[in-house]
Amino acid sequence: MKTVKEIAEKRRAVNFFDSSVAITDDDLRSIYEIAKLSPSSFNLQPWRVIVVRSPEKRERLRELAMNQPKVTEASAILVFVGRGKAYEEDVDRVLRDRVSKGYMSEQIVDRVKEVIRNLYGGREVAFASRNVGLFAMLFMLAAESEGWDTHPMDGFDVEGVREFLQLGEGEFPVMMMALGKKQREATLLPRPERKSFEEVFSVL
Ligand SMILES: Cc1cc2nc3c(=O)[nH]c(=O)nc-3n(C[C@H](O)[C@H](O)[C@H](O)COP(=O)(O)O)c2cc1C
Repeated sequence: MKTVKEIAEKRRAVNFFDSSVAITDDDLRSIYEIAKLSPSSFNLQPWRVIVVRSPEKRERLRELAMNQPKVTEASAILVFVGRGKAYEEDVDRVLRDRVSKGYMSEQIVDRVKEVIRNLYGGREVAFASRNVGLFAMLFMLAAESEGWDTHPMDGFDVEGVREFLQLGEGEFPVMMMALGKKQREATLLPRPERKSFEEVFSVL
C-alpha cells in the first residue's frame, strides 16, 4: 500500500489527458468511498459534485473556463459545488446522527442548532468553500491512489457556470476538476517550486 507521502509526491496537475479513456460510475464511486472520509464543519458535508461527460456541455464549460483544453480532453469534468445552506438544510440529519452515536444528548439539539446558525449564517461562501477545498483535495489524492489523474481549476466564470448548471439557492461552483488519465507520451514540466518551511510557518 502506498503512503500518503508517495501519493502526494505522485499527484500532479495534469494538462494532457488521453481523450480515449472513459471513466465509469463505478470508478467514480471507488474514489468517492475514500474522499467521503474528508472532515467537514459539524460533518455537514456541504458539497455536491456534478459530473459532466456530455461533449456538448463540456464545450460550453470550456468557453466558461478560459478555453482550457483539458475541459474537453479529460474523461470527465467534475464541478465541486458548495452548498452554502447545508448548515440549515442538513442540520437535522447531522444532529440526529450525533445523538444516536452518543456525541450529544437530545436535550441540547436546539442549542447546538443555534450555535451552527450563528457560526455559518451570513458566511455561506467561506463555510462551503473551505469544506469543499478539503473534500476536493482528498478526492485528488484518492483519485491518484486509484490510478487516475486530476487537475483542479478555478479559472472559470463562477456566475456563468452557476447559471449554466442551474445551481440551486445558496449553491455555487467552488472548483472544477478535470479527471482522467495522462497521455502516455506526454511529459510533465518539473514540479513548480514550493515555499520553504521558514516562509510558511511562524511560531508564537
Ligand atoms: C484551487 C486551484 C485552482 C487552480 N486553477 C487552475 C486553472 O484554472 N488552470 C490551471 O491550468 N491550473 C490550475 N491550478 C493548478 C495549479 O496551477 C497547480 O496545482 C500548481 O501550479 C502546482 O502544480 P502541481 O499541482 O503539479 O504540483 C489550480 C490549482 C488549485 C489548487
